[in-house]
Amino acid sequence: MKIEVISGQLQSVEADTLVVNLFRGVEKPGGGTGAVDAALDGAISELISQGDFSGKAGELTVLYPRGVIPAKRVIVAGLGEREKFDAEAARRAAAKAARRALQLGTKTLATIVHGAGTGGLEAAEAAAATAEGTLLALYRYDAPRQKPEERELPERIMLVEFDDSKLEAMQEAVAQVQAISQGVFLARDLVNGPANIITPEYLAATARELADSYGFDVLVGDRAWAEEQKMGAFLGVSQGTAREPAFIVLEHNPTGSDEAPVVLVGKGLTFDTGGISIKPSAGMQAMISDMGGAAAVLGAMKAIGEAGLKRRVVAIAACTENMPDGKSFKPGDVLTASNGKTIEITNTDAEGRLVLADALAYAARYEPAAVVDLATLTGAIVVALGQGTAAGLFSNDEQLRDQFVAAGEATHERAWPMPLYGEFRKQMASDVADMKNSSAVRAAGSSTAAAFLQEFVDYPWVHLDIAGMAYSSKAGDYNPKGASGYGVRLLLRWLLDNG
Ligand code: BES
Ligand code: MN
Ligand code: ZN
Repeated sequence: MKIEVISGQLQSVEADTLVVNLFRGVEKPGGGTGAVDAALDGAISELISQGDFSGKAGELTVLYPRGVIPAKRVIVAGLGEREKFDAEAARRAAAKAARRALQLGTKTLATIVHGAGTGGLEAAEAAAATAEGTLLALYRYDAPRQKPEERELPERIMLVEFDDSKLEAMQEAVAQVQAISQGVFLARDLVNGPANIITPEYLAATARELADSYGFDVLVGDRAWAEEQKMGAFLGVSQGTAREPAFIVLEHNPTGSDEAPVVLVGKGLTFDTGGISIKPSAGMQAMISDMGGAAAVLGAMKAIGEAGLKRRVVAIAACTENMPDGKSFKPGDVLTASNGKTIEITNTDAEGRLVLADALAYAARYEPAAVVDLATLTGAIVVALGQGTAAGLFSNDEQLRDQFVAAGEATHERAWPMPLYGEFRKQMASDVADMKNSSAVRAAGSSTAAAFLQEFVDYPWVHLDIAGMAYSSKAGDYNPKGASGYGVRLLLRWLLDNG
């Protein structure tokens, strides 16, 4: 799907469906909606005066102009209170309208740019939010079925702007949104796919395709390679799976510079049974999403390639399965990570931190400007911050932390600061190794996990615990049920705004 920004008057646009908007409490619409209202001889004002439309956020109604204007139907979308309006409100309004337009069989969709007028957003920001809400809402996972579901997506989507002077900025912003959305869709597809298809080797093949398409360097380390690298923690988790693990490294260095790169690290557990410390069977299938971190970094690399970002970025995805087996690692085992630290295994279900340990140690060779890891790491972060609310943000660098909070607010892929106190490291002390992999105390589980990771880090670092964000049994306005693609938009916003 491609979105165009065109110049023109809403009331003159030829489209199956035209979207306009209203803030709550407005009696006489202005701007583009006002022009459409006037062309319809006050039909929208009448909706309001009859008490049939209040403009509250999420409200939708459909009008039929019957030839008075070229559009076959008009969707009026409520924007909520003007004082509370922001880019997220614009995304949601666009998403709701787009999904209704889809239901109505729309082939050509034209929409007002939500928030560009009295909404107080910059024209480019408003266009980006409108395009983003529309695109992200129209995604659907193409499930493998004998008869694939037919989907009639709109053939044409137009954002309509009457002020020519704003057009170029809007087009540029929308092009960037299109690029980033491609990355979000890749991440969603990878997380939604079942674990017998989305294997470590599948993720490796995906990385190779990205390398081909965008000129990245690619390395896929298998079990033998990881042994040479002495990645005892990554290999410990991989011991029980019959599948070949894949330690994936992608590098984007468009100018061949030796600038210190940003390194993105993703947890890539294509399935997490818990291993010998096996999880209960009810709900275990949600662990197909335990590669949500790897999906986010691969999606981010796709977005980076599509957007033509001019910075050096390295992505590492540590991919394997956590399975119970005669060869599995087990409680009481002691593993040695590639940086020489030894780890007593107290729970094989605390496997994410083990694969990340070797990935974070590997990142050090780049002398990185910053390393950001994303991992569906702990159920405890869902207890602390909720499902679909915010990722847990842990950092050893105040500036980075602030940058990520800001990028989280801007994209609504929120990340909220959590502490890395010394006490948490103490909880990971072991009698038989440098540390254990899971605390005996059932408290501050996300922070003790982060304290464990910190042992493998000697650079500015951000850890995002995305266990509550990658996958959901409930749909949001522009996040369908299942995978959200969380992290791609956040990472791109952060990269674009800082540096
Ligand atoms: N992959 C899970 C965490 C998870 C839970 C992700 C729910 C998404 C939704 C992780 O590997 C795990 O099992 N963590 C354990 C750690 C514990 C054994 C210290 C947990 O959170 O219970
Ligand atoms: Mn686990
Ligand atoms: Zn896991």
